[in-house]
Amino acid sequence: MITQQTLIIGANSDIAKALALKITASETAGVILISRDVSVYDSLYRDNNNSHVHAITIKDYQSQSIEQAITDISTFNHAPITRIFICNGILHNKHIKPEKRIEDFDVESFNQVMASNALTPMLWIQKLIPTLTGKSPCKIVVFSARVGSISDNRLGGWYSYRASKAALNMMLKTAAIEVARRDKNIKLIAFHPGTTDTPLSKPFQKNVPENKLFTCDFVASQLLTIVENSSYDQTASYLDWQGKSINW
Ligand SMILES: NC(=O)c1ccc[n+]([C@@H]2O[C@H](COP(=O)([O-])OP(=O)(O)OC[C@H]3O[C@@H](n4cnc5c(N)ncnc54)[C@H](OP(=O)(O)O)[C@@H]3O)[C@@H](O)[C@H]2O)c1
Repeated sequence: MITQQTLIIGANSDIAKALALKITASETAGVILISRDVSVYDSLYRDNNNSHVHAITIKDYQSQSIEQAITDISTFNHAPITRIFICNGILHNKHIKPEKRIEDFDVESFNQVMASNALTPMLWIQKLIPTLTGKSPCKIVVFSARVGSISDNRLGGWYSYRASKAALNMMLKTAAIEVARRDKNIKLIAFHPGTTDTPLSKPFQKNVPENKLFTCDFVASQLLTIVENSSYDQTASYLDWQGKSINW
């Protein structure tokens, strides 16, 4: 019988897939996956008929779609959601490249990066927190990045990505202050996975030392341990893949 559930948002991220596989392989927790494309999970879980895993396809990450997904979640089963991973984030796509120089800054790219990396996680937090208040304890992890640290910015560049993760961090810290007053059973964590071998980091891997390019499987293990070890201390944490604090 399922006694708790884990929600993974942006589940088509390669790190999210590793998280889902780890959880379903080693735990009896229910897993709810949300993504614009859940086809990879259809094939992964179709054969073993895993009734602990539910996948929701979301049209986009607009407010209304998020609200509909949250309504759908409540129909699955009533075990409490005890962990939430919000994995969304883009660095580049067909039209966007991280800026090397100030001349590269582009309004449309900035808006898209801010929407995916800061606004999308914030909307999930906004709409999920009321559903968790007064219920079982829950740890919420948003995928940030070390480059979102204002105090750590020594290299420059990547204006939009840095700004989006810094904005995400600020909103998480702000939400943690409010949550501490309203519900001591929610813990918020901004997580830096380190450079991980996914499509997001692919174009930037050539200068990364081999032992500093992590597999998704390694990062997923680290993250699950970090979440397990974190306490409900009424403050937001900004942690790297080793569980070490990063200065905001
Ligand atoms: N890989 C690294 O080296 C690294 C380093 C530092 C931080 N991170 C962070 O870790 C997280 C996961 O990254 P990953 O490497 O696993 O990347 P990935 O495999 O490229 O996954 C991309 C993620 O972004 C979401 N996404 C893509 N376009 C979006 C849009 N327009 N609006 C909202 N969400 C969108 C996807 O959601 P769907 O499931 O809906 O497709 C998916 O969750 C990101 O937040 C990233 O910034 C990664």
